[in-house]
Amino acid sequence: MRDTELTLSRRNFCQGIVAGSLAAAFGQVPTASAAEGTVPQQAFASSFLNVPDTYGPTRVTFDRALPKGLRGTLYRNGPARMQRGDTRYNHWFDGDGMVHAFRLDDRGMTHTGRMVETERSRKEEAAGRFLWGGFGTGFDHAQSVTGPDDINVANISVLPAGDDILALWEAGSPYRMHAETLETLGRHVFSAETDGLPFSAHPRVDPTGRIWNFGYLSGSGKLVLYDLNSDGTMHRAKLIDAPNADMVHDFAITDRYLVFVLLPLRFKPDGSTTKGFIDSLKWDADGATHVLVVDKDTLEISNRFELPAFFAFHMGNAWQDGDILQVEIATAPDFHPMMAEIEAATLGKRLPAPQGASQAAEIRLNLRTGVALIDALPTTGIDFPRFDQRFTGHRTEQLFMASQTASKPDAVFGFNAITAFDRRTDQESVFDYGRDTLAEEHIFVPTPGGRQGQGWLVGTSYNWQRCRTTFSVFNASAVADGPIAQAELPYALPLGLHGQFVEA
Ligand SMILES: [Fe+2]
Repeated sequence: MRDTELTLSRRNFCQGIVAGSLAAAFGQVPTASAAEGTVPQQAFASSFLNVPDTYGPTRVTFDRALPKGLRGTLYRNGPARMQRGDTRYNHWFDGDGMVHAFRLDDRGMTHTGRMVETERSRKEEAAGRFLWGGFGTGFDHAQSVTGPDDINVANISVLPAGDDILALWEAGSPYRMHAETLETLGRHVFSAETDGLPFSAHPRVDPTGRIWNFGYLSGSGKLVLYDLNSDGTMHRAKLIDAPNADMVHDFAITDRYLVFVLLPLRFKPDGSTTKGFIDSLKWDADGATHVLVVDKDTLEISNRFELPAFFAFHMGNAWQDGDILQVEIATAPDFHPMMAEIEAATLGKRLPAPQGASQAAEIRLNLRTGVALIDALPTTGIDFPRFDQRFTGHRTEQLFMASQTASKPDAVFGFNAITAFDRRTDQESVFDYGRDTLAEEHIFVPTPGGRQGQGWLVGTSYNWQRCRTTFSVFNASAVADGPIAQAELPYALPLGLHGQFVEA
């Protein structure tokens, strides 16, 4: 058999599994034609098929030697279980969380993945079906919610804290997991006063090691602020008034301030359990996007700003330059079209017409005059901004993002490339994984003692034709040159969200 035939037969095998499983899982799903040879619109959904409760430990070797300074573990979290019995989620963000550990050593990599055993998932395991709705899914039979942790799926990110890894959601408590075994150790409580309050999934660590975070309670007009010691123990918490904080995914910090971008989304629930949380959020296109600046010393609001309406999930770095606070952000034009796109991708359906590309931008807040401006940065089709976290609160030199290139089929949801964007020169350095691969968040790992931006990018990608996940290492200063080492797992992993690297 010639190489090309072998490749095709593997492709067809993989596609057959994908099309058949999608049809079984989701009902009527268009299948591949022999002429097309592939099903791009199912690329994203295919990663969630037949996900086991545990992966590994699996040993793999890299195609080239790992850099000597790069040893440690990439922890990643993401929605993994999308179906139980005859109930299924419609939306990527709803899936039960699974935490992965990719351990890099002198001889290769060991991968382990385990579901976060939340209180919710234990009850649903016993019932054999999902009992509650979530961010984007509702059920006729959904049970009433008595508190945020009833519906906590712990699926967004991780925070290394002390000896453990915390699995983070957005609207509930973190779950502690054993850093080696990934065994779930239980719901984590920082203090009696914050027991059960939301702890969001994008905590920020300042150069002193102090951990900052927040939580929002939709409709309450409040944000809870967390100031944690470097080992993750509570230093202090405070509730502040934030009338527009009905959905806040991320924030940024400087040496002195916490910066919250509050979207023109209004929480207006109708009491129905047949809809997801996103159906309770009303987009106010004529409203403003508010920016709150909070003093880290007092935890009081020091400044408020208004900008024209825009949407954003993720923020980059922020820093102060004289009177100006500069804040990096990944913007999108509107909320509900993006949610519709994610739902279609999750179900393997045709994507709705695009509403405009995501766009890197910089917000400039004048602390003296109260004037706020937002300017686009010359890099589009991006998200998951990362930077050298040692320089949190200081001017960014390199922003690293997942991105899209022309080689990604329009029918495929997600990113297929990695961009290093030089904030000093506005130059992009792009590595294109190609037509058949979806790129996940890649994380910067500094060279020990190196200058800002000197180090590596590490991350995973999913080849939806071959149904395999690959771990890649880049020289962060030469992303366009491609990976300097790669290791392919003998299986596919569900496409996830965020992670952190813990150096050995
Ligand atoms: Fe996020």
